[in-house]
Amino acid sequence: MSKQKTLVLTGASRGIGHATVKRFSAEKWRVITCSRQAFAEDCPWPAGAEDHIQVDLANPENIDKAVCEIRQRLKNGNSILGALVNNAGISPKGEEGARLNSLDTTLDDWHQVFQVNFFAPIMLARGLVKESEEGKGERVKVN
Ligand SMILES: NC(=O)c1ccc[n+]([C@@H]2O[C@H](COP(=O)([O-])OP(=O)(O)OC[C@H]3O[C@@H](n4cnc5c(N)ncnc54)[C@H](OP(=O)(O)O)[C@@H]3O)[C@@H](O)[C@H]2O)c1
Repeated sequence: MSKQKTLVLTGASRGIGHATVKRFSAEKWRVITCSRQAFAEDCPWPAGAEDHIQVDLANPENIDKAVCEIRQRLKNGNSILGALVNNAGISPKGEEGARLNSLDTTLDDWHQVFQVNFFAPIMLARGLVKESEEGKGERVKVN
């Protein structure tokens, strides 16, 4: 039996991520979804709760656990990792919608932004590189 191509997608619970799950599901991909929220039972794709991983990408330990869980689920599900889409991202605003800036934004807030937007994608890519290579996924270098 041939293995099912699988997409690991962060930030699947709404917006662009939500649309991405629908698109890949329609093309018969398995989609392992990742976000802080639990799986919503009214989601319109077949994968369901068993393919959802609740993870806070702002928490590095949480990411390590999620990587182990993803690797296990790929193994159990007779599927290959075809793509990792690091879609989750945050852009918090200050008072009255003000943009973050170097003087007023706390360092804690900056750490969180960089953890979610920058370090989490690196941690996921590193954690799943073996599975990605097995799935013949190509590493894309971004300079
Ligand atoms: N919409 C635009 O016009 C636009 C333009 C340029 C770039 N982008 C980028 O494209 C991506 C998607 O945009 P969007 O508008 O669809 O964003 P969105 O509606 O704000 O959704 C963000 C997603 O990321 C997840 N997320 C946020 N923080 C997380 C965390 N700490 N851990 C795990 N998941 C987390 C959220 O799920 P939970 O809340 O369940 O965790 C949600 O599913 C983002 O990276 C955004 O910066 C969007």
